[in-house]
Amino acid sequence: MSDPSKETLKLHAAQAALQFVVPGAILGVGSGSTVNVFVSLLEPIRSTIPGAVAASKSTEAALRTAGIPILDLNAVESIPVYVDGADEIDPDFSLIKGGGAALTREKIIATASDTFVCIVDASKRVKQLGTFPLPIEVVPMAINSITRSIARMGGIATVRAGVVTDNGNLILDVRGLSFVDTALLESELNQLPGVVTNGIFAKRRADICICAGVDGVTVERRPAT
Ligand code: 5RP
Repeated sequence: MSDPSKETLKLHAAQAALQFVVPGAILGVGSGSTVNVFVSLLEPIRSTIPGAVAASKSTEAALRTAGIPILDLNAVESIPVYVDGADEIDPDFSLIKGGGAALTREKIIATASDTFVCIVDASKRVKQLGTFPLPIEVVPMAINSITRSIARMGGIATVRAGVVTDNGNLILDVRGLSFVDTALLESELNQLPGVVTNGIFAKRRADICICAGVDGVTVERRPAT
């Protein structure tokens, strides 16, 4: 039998995430193709979901199609569960996110949520973060100064062509930085004036990783560190 396709793996991960949806509670929902599959599975249980806080305009549209009301983060008191994908996840459940340019809202909602359930296929699991180019959301006027600062840190930044974020900003994709201390790198990048968010999720890591691979789906809680 041939290996399952990426789309099938996304479906398996998304299906496993349904067990974490708390009936009657606000749901946080990230962004990306894996999340889109997850949202498509919510329609049959929409009556149990009073509303969702979404990390992107495209997720909002998908949730509306599934019949789930969209709520402003400022209008909700708590989000028990946030479900989102990732571009890379390491053994400590730190992440690189932002391949879909929604990293800022994703980090805001993830941080405001009690439990972050990360849904990935096995190709996203890495020993160390940093192969996937690191997305950084940048205020447009700071693009050149931040590119120079990143070069001084050893990185090469490229403006993502044709992309404006939901917040009206640009994305730099950065290669070549050292990821030996991801939490420190996350902080240092955030110190650069004009950086809105960087795609390292080390301070707000995932709590649960649902990973779909050729051998099936694993559901793991973050190791205590
Ligand atoms: C969007 C993200 C996504 O979660 C990440 O890019 C993974 O997306 P996909 O599920 O399409 O592989 O961070 O900003």
